[in-house]
Amino acid sequence: MENDVGEVLISQEQIREKTKELGRRIAQDYEGKNPLLICVLKGGLMFLADLMREIHMPLEIDFMAVSSYGDATESSGVVRILMDLERNIRGRHVLIVEDIIDTGRTLNYIIENLHTRGPASIKVCTLLDKPARRLLDIPLDYVGFEIPDRFVIGYGLDFGEIYRNLPFVGVLKPELYS
Ligand code: PRP
Repeated sequence: MENDVGEVLISQEQIREKTKELGRRIAQDYEGKNPLLICVLKGGLMFLADLMREIHMPLEIDFMAVSSYGDATESSGVVRILMDLERNIRGRHVLIVEDIIDTGRTLNYIIENLHTRGPASIKVCTLLDKPARRLLDIPLDYVGFEIPDRFVIGYGLDFGEIYRNLPFVGVLKPELYS
């Protein structure tokens, strides 16, 4: 599997450092607010698991799985909820945790949907931001790394459901997907 990686874009160490920094900021910003971290599956799983360990305060977590119709490398914008939250978010301070924001369509749908449930606030924390591909302008509150328009895998991100367990963010060798 490691042999399919053309280049390591963000190392395990870089992710670790950045996650600590984000965790500190989030803990300061949400002091006394018992935030609800919402992990968007499946990609956000690894980031949530590491991030929550760096937020040293009481918090809760919940999960949501969505799917956007489209081909393997691009979403279509039509989003469907595959698995919904367990908890009622009315009056809660919600922090959406994502692995990557690409076109922004998935996030836009999630934010609009969550807004209808009456939370006290909604903010976004994403490990990766790929601004070159953005179609919808959505403010991102916490961003780990801005990355170029390349096909990335690892640390939660897949290609054909594989590579999510790589501990770093890498670029797949082009001959494997073109
Ligand atoms: C990825 C990622 C975001 C979305 C970003 O999820 O986790 O949710 O795509 O793309 P967008 O900004 O263009 O909407 P994906 O649909 O691949 O599902 P997964 O997390 O289960 O891999």
